[in-house]
Amino acid sequence: MDILLLNGPNLNMLGVREPEQYGTQTLDDIVSCVSALATDANLSLDHYQDNSEVGLIDRVHAASQDGTKYIIINPAAFTHTSIALRDALSAVDIAFTEVHLSNVYKREEFRKKSYFSDIAEGVISGFGAQGYEFALAVAIKHIQSN
Ligand code: DQA
Repeated sequence: MDILLLNGPNLNMLGVREPEQYGTQTLDDIVSCVSALATDANLSLDHYQDNSEVGLIDRVHAASQDGTKYIIINPAAFTHTSIALRDALSAVDIAFTEVHLSNVYKREEFRKKSYFSDIAEGVISGFGAQGYEFALAVAIKHIQSN
């Protein structure tokens, strides 16, 4: 797999979950869109969503064994809480972009703290589902120039 797209807790509820915050597209819609863009660039993409920290951590560990070259991750609420998931990303040392559908800086104070931003290549926040397309463009460029 060239690119791993990871989504954290409650993102399986996209489309019905707080649409004013997260939009009306489902996770399947988003995954279909970015998968098609990856295919157009002759790259393979695997998607994994989990509501639990352990599943996400195990998938990150597996990425170090399956040839993953770039990770796009929306850690969802784990953004603000999970040192363990941060440590997993540090351990595998695969470049990644952090994505948020909503602009976390426009929301509650607790959402302004991310355990990922300082180790990410960059952060995309507030552009809805389009943020994943931006992150994919970054991933493609990264892979093609490395
Ligand atoms: C989110 C923002 C987080 O604060 C929140 O817990 C989420 C989604 C976003 O995509 O905007 O679940 O990561």
